[in-house]
Amino acid sequence: MDAIEIIRAKRDRGELTTAQIDWVISAYTRGEVADEQMSALAMAILLNGMNRREIADWTQAMIRSGERMDWSMLDRPTADKHSTGGVGDKITLPLAPLVAACGAYVPQLSGRGLGHTGGTLDKLESIPGWRASLSNDEMLHVLRTAGAVVCAAGSGLAPADKKLYALRDVTGTVESIPLIASSIMSKKIAEGTGALVLDVKVGSGAFMKTEETARELAETMVALGTDAGVRTVALLTAMDRPLGRAVGNALEVSESVEVLAGGGPSDVVELTVRLAREMLEAAGISGKDPAEALADGSAMDVWRRMVAAQGGDPDALLPRAAETMTVEAAEPGVLTRLDAYAVGLAAWRLGAGRARKEDPVAPGAGVVLHAKPGDLVRAGQPLMTLHADDTGRFARALEALEGAYAVGPSTAPQLPLVIDRVT
Ligand code: URA
Repeated sequence: MDAIEIIRAKRDRGELTTAQIDWVISAYTRGEVADEQMSALAMAILLNGMNRREIADWTQAMIRSGERMDWSMLDRPTADKHSTGGVGDKITLPLAPLVAACGAYVPQLSGRGLGHTGGTLDKLESIPGWRASLSNDEMLHVLRTAGAVVCAAGSGLAPADKKLYALRDVTGTVESIPLIASSIMSKKIAEGTGALVLDVKVGSGAFMKTEETARELAETMVALGTDAGVRTVALLTAMDRPLGRAVGNALEVSESVEVLAGGGPSDVVELTVRLAREMLEAAGISGKDPAEALADGSAMDVWRRMVAAQGGDPDALLPRAAETMTVEAAEPGVLTRLDAYAVGLAAWRLGAGRARKEDPVAPGAGVVLHAKPGDLVRAGQPLMTLHADDTGRFARALEALEGAYAVGPSTAPQLPLVIDRVT
């Protein structure tokens, strides 16, 4: 077979055969299809799409490019969650220990942030001593000790996706539903979870800006998971405004610990409990109320064990940025709008995110929101506090926030927190 023939077929809106897909993914992983050929094919797929059969074949071929993890030796069901990413989306941090406290094992492979969305590993790495890289044996040990583990995917898991995602990132070919769905699901299926809940974000701070595209992505991923024998369900959730009040690595860890202690912002608590219920149902576990496991401290106990088992000190003081600056309301009224993308961009410019994969993040940097859409504010009342390690970062963050919020006479409509459920 040859790469040029496959590129031409997709360029001319043809359907790729199973054999062609198997060959091109396997030859690309071995280095026998060049990056420039794979980027041409990715662009042809972005422009001309793939049907469900092609997407399923593409996903399976990426799974077969590496190892597939197996948790069948465990005595309880496994469940995981994947979020398509957003601003202030720290839900994994309280959710993984919460679901483990209710009786499932949670083996979660997570990623780092790129651009305006944060990454779970960057957040957890702000805890002194915490380690993201674990061997498969260490992962199993943490699962058995704590019930939940959140760590980086090893190099053996879906290596075709690792290579292809890096290529898509620099060739303008990320924004393709078939490529996003197969990328996410190849890793989640290879991770070996028995049940999977997808949190597909909708709005300015998300990959998918409209409900229509988010629904298409959700339906594609649910079908891929179900066909692969993973009990999969998706929620479409709001990302037109930030989730919770903290945006930034250590700031989000603090907010997550508040949730585990029975407090925290109501939207973070509501979404955490809802996703936990979905994960437990998909895992076939009944009779446990996640809201109770937050209230009685059992989720917090799992969190502490999980952090300690990965080398972290759950009692350590978290890093704080050296400088802060407050943004105040110019007039009284109701906060009608607070744009998720702009707040994410501001946090990124303050140092919470990275521009290139190899850059470090500033653990204490970010934004703390003092008001959310719908809240009444007085003139001069703090709306948000910016945190950065040097004052030189504030001007660019303020630029990102220009026009990002509005104070008006009455509330304005916003997306419901949970928009829909896709099965
Ligand atoms: N996240 C992934 O893992 N893959 C994509 O293609 C997009 C987001």
